[in-house]
Amino acid sequence: MSHQINPLHPVLGAEVTGLDLTLPVSTIPQRELKSAIDQYGVVVYRNPTPPSDAQHVEFSRLFGPVEVGPMFKVTGDTKKRIDNPALVDVGNLDPDGNIMKADNRRMLFRKGDRLWHADMSFHHNRATYSLLLGHEIPPEGAGGDTEFADMRAAYDALPAEIKTMIENLTVEHSIWHSRQLAGFPEPTQEELDSRPPAHHKLVHVHPGSGRKTLYLAAHASHIVGWPVGLGRGLIKNLMSFATQPQFIYRHKWKLGDLLMWDNLATMHRATEFEDTRYRRDMRRATCREQPVDLSVAA
Ligand code: OGA
Ligand code: MN
Repeated sequence: MSHQINPLHPVLGAEVTGLDLTLPVSTIPQRELKSAIDQYGVVVYRNPTPPSDAQHVEFSRLFGPVEVGPMFKVTGDTKKRIDNPALVDVGNLDPDGNIMKADNRRMLFRKGDRLWHADMSFHHNRATYSLLLGHEIPPEGAGGDTEFADMRAAYDALPAEIKTMIENLTVEHSIWHSRQLAGFPEPTQEELDSRPPAHHKLVHVHPGSGRKTLYLAAHASHIVGWPVGLGRGLIKNLMSFATQPQFIYRHKWKLGDLLMWDNLATMHRATEFEDTRYRRDMRRATCREQPVDLSVAA
């Protein structure tokens, strides 16, 4: 089956059509798809026949080690809606398949996705690619789009003196920082200890394209070695610079879309929709820099 790759935006995003992800993965043109994600940062696979959970995970494994783990570490849920331990439940449905109430802990937690971020930047072992499949989406025009910003294009557009100033800076990323930005109360010491922060270079060379890029996220708390307030100010300015309209692709979901993004070259955020009225069932497989299998941990 011949496939097509069409750009969706001047700086990021492409659409792949004509591939059947329900066929054995040996039929997938792996090398071409890897160069598409390397170049475009976001790739949308349109699926007239959506892959099953197992096929979704198997496809994701073509791009690196997929995280396998208990799903609701932070959200406190005990019952799972999705059996596959390699998929994160990103929608607004409870384990019984009903729309969650507004005060549901996981619903509140997912509100953090509405801040610009890269997945798992608060881990030393970051997320490389995320692959999100739309099983149920709100009706057309009802919102729930996902936005992406290209950090390489943003870096390129920075004034030369800013590039020089930020070249060797290191940023501390913490889940607790983004949760506070999203309106959660201050973490307790126990919570802080359970999820220590991670340090990452602010500017790095994107492994896929060899281009220099910013590595930013709502989890970015401050600059290591700088007074906290000063570092926060710089991060805030860079975040607004990097999320200007010219760097953004906004994805309007169609049923069966598999949206893949490169967390090392882009940021993304969920957008508003009436989440207590419309169903949204999204499932995410996440590739990591190093293999992680938390399901076998004691
Ligand atoms: C994610 C995420 C955005 C969305 O799955 O990592 O941020 O629109 N999702 O659901
Ligand atoms: Mn995310």
